[in-house]
Amino acid sequence: MKTALYPGTFDPVTIGHQSIIIRSSELFDKLIVGIGNNSNKQCMFTLEERIEMLKKEVETYKEYQIENIEVVSYEGLTVDFCKKNEIDYIVRGVRTNTDWSAESSIVYANNMLYERVETVFLLADIDEIGISSSIVRDILRNNGDVSKFVPRVVLDMVQQKKK
Ligand code: COA
Repeated sequence: MKTALYPGTFDPVTIGHQSIIIRSSELFDKLIVGIGNNSNKQCMFTLEERIEMLKKEVETYKEYQIENIEVVSYEGLTVDFCKKNEIDYIVRGVRTNTDWSAESSIVYANNMLYERVETVFLLADIDEIGISSSIVRDILRNNGDVSKFVPRVVLDMVQQKKK
């Protein structure tokens, strides 16, 4: 059985993440969406909120018979989580050359730490290249409308949080 991990901060989940989740769930028998810890990021949404938004999001895919996705959070190195759970594939979405150069050095480091792990890159959809969680956070901080940037369930959670 081929299991992959799609790790991220997901602060918050965007339609860019949504597309990578759906596309990679079709490539692997099982997809684990893992909320890891990026030590350079100060999150707007708590870990509990991000787990809840991903779980709710993944729940909506059941309508389309996509049922091979699990949501988890983990501490420490992504490769250590892979090793411990016998996961041989990491999925990452890339949008631009900048993403590619940042991601490629992580691949080298990850492989030095855990030889077995293979990173699979999915190119972001062309109309999602300009979307990022930090843009969404910035729009939210300024009371803007993020409905074109985030999935429906995330929009609902954001609106609930505002009240
Ligand atoms: N479409 C649109 N946006 C996309 C995208 C896509 N297909 N793919 C990524 N993004 C954006 C995200 O919105 C996010 O935007 P932001 O930086 O403005 O917030 C950014 O690209 C990447 O964020 P995300 O994918 O959520 O994860 P991350 O880069 O914060 O990485 C971990 C998080 C958990 C994977 C990483 O920090 C990690 O592995 N941590 C554990 C420690 C470790 O192992 N470090 C590596 C050692 S070498």
